[in-house]
Order: sequence, then C-alpha cells, then structure tokens
Amino acid sequence: MYQIYTADQYLWEGLNLDGKVVLEGGTSWGNTTGRIAEKVKANNWKTKLISVDIDDSHFDEIKERISDAFMKLDLRKGDLSRLDFVEDNSIDVIICNYTLSSVNQFPMRAVRALGEFYRILKSEGQLVIMEEIPIWAVEHRDYPYWSQRLRVIKSISVLKAMAHFNEIHPTDLEETLKMMNYRDVRYQEFKESIDSSLATRFLDKRKQTLLKGYNDIDNENLTKGFVEITEKLVKELEKAESFAAPAYIMKAVK
Ligand SMILES: C[S@@+](CC[C@H](N)C(=O)[O-])C[C@H]1O[C@@H](n2cnc3c(N)ncnc32)[C@H](O)[C@@H]1O
Repeated sequence: MYQIYTADQYLWEGLNLDGKVVLEGGTSWGNTTGRIAEKVKANNWKTKLISVDIDDSHFDEIKERISDAFMKLDLRKGDLSRLDFVEDNSIDVIICNYTLSSVNQFPMRAVRALGEFYRILKSEGQLVIMEEIPIWAVEHRDYPYWSQRLRVIKSISVLKAMAHFNEIHPTDLEETLKMMNYRDVRYQEFKESIDSSLATRFLDKRKQTLLKGYNDIDNENLTKGFVEITEKLVKELEKAESFAAPAYIMKAVK
C-alpha cells in the first residue's frame, strides 16, 4: 500500500477500453462518465458504455454532453444490487466511483452489488472502485474540512431519520472481494482534492433537508443550531476553494 497524491495514473494503469463493454456504477452528475468519455476520445477507443444510477435526473444533460465519445452510450435507471437487465459474463470493465458507500446506505447492499458485478463480468474482466476512506476522528489533522463536513451531513441525516452514506474501509473491501473469489485484489490510498463548490452544494442541500421535508425535528433550537453549523462550514469552505479527502482505488479481476 502506497500513499499517492494523484489518482489518475493509478486509475488508468492497465485499463484499455478499446472494443470493450464498460459498465459504470453511479452516474450521478456524470463526473466520472465525463472522465471516461475524455479518455475514450483522446485514445480513439471504440467503447460501449452502460452507466447505471438509481436516480436518472441528470441523464438528459449527460447524454447531450458526451454521447458522441462512445460507440454506444446506454444510461440506465437501475439498482446496482439488482442488475437483471445485464447478462452474465457480458462486461469487460466495471468502474464504480464514489458510489459503493451510497449503495451501502442500506448495510450489505454493497455486497449484493459486488455479487452482481462478479456475475456480469467476463472471465478476466476488471473491476475498479474508487471510494472515500472512513476516518472516524472529528477535526482530523490532515482532513479538517472533510471530517467536519462528514459529521454535519451524517448528523443531519440521522436527525431527519434518513439513511446516509456508509464508507467502507479498504481492508474490509479487499477481504470481501477475496471472499467473493475476485482475484488480484489490490489498492492504493491517495489524497483527493475536492472542489469546495461541490461540497457547499451538497451541504446546502442538507440544510434544505433540515428546514423542509419529512420527519421534522420538533425542536426549533436543534434545527437552528444545525443550520448555524452548516452555514459556518459553508463559509469556511468557500474561503478554502478546495480541500483534501482521504480516498482509495481498489482493483480486482474476475
Ligand atoms: C456520489 S454519487 C456518484 C458520483 C459519481 N460516480 C462521480 O464519480 O462523481 C453516488 C450515486 O450513487 C447512486 N446510488 C445510490 N444507491 C444506488 C443503487 N443501489 N443503485 C444505483 N445507484 C445508486 C446515487 O443515486 C448517486 O447518484
């Protein structure tokens, strides 16, 4: 295990998507979808991409932005733990960035997704997972903004009786993949730099969840206190522009 500061090199090492069918787990705003499209275009690869998310709200915009990069782009609304629409042994590469912890909002669902990934991968197919590392120290010396942000987001979710992300430690994921018969399981840790505007957008969304929506907390002081904490952190993040987050890339082969 090495500490690296740029993930891009490790992410693409040994990945050639030419003539391949690739499945992306967790389309969301299309950050990783866009990175894959750039790489495919730059290398003139002939790649088919199926990108799956349970929430299809960004599909139209993504399709317009990047579909010309691929031989075929299929944006699919679906649950990664139930990929019934994907045949056994049909996918060459799976890339799943910052999504497994979201699937794992419901404990064990990430394991079901990993089982589905194994089923749909061809023999020798490659799995690439990028995730944040859970560090349970508030105001961690190396990651002050990241740890505060995590605490605020999760606390609001708990207050509102909502499920929240459950990050998986790389050693736990490594062992789970080995138990599931994945081969050549390996990972690297790195310091990811997160754009503050992305983080403030997410924090603001959480603040709105606190003020509106279901499961109101019947305590004005508690709500006010959390709104204050969220707004203070947003101000600090705006000044910082970007901040560091602990992350890892896990690779495995079927
Ligand atoms: C943090 S976002 C993904 C970020 C994106 N991959 C990137 O690199 O920027 C997590 C996504 O996982 C999706 N998600 C959560 N549970 C899911 C599930 N069971 N199946 C499919 N998508 C799921 C959410 O809707 C959300 O869009």
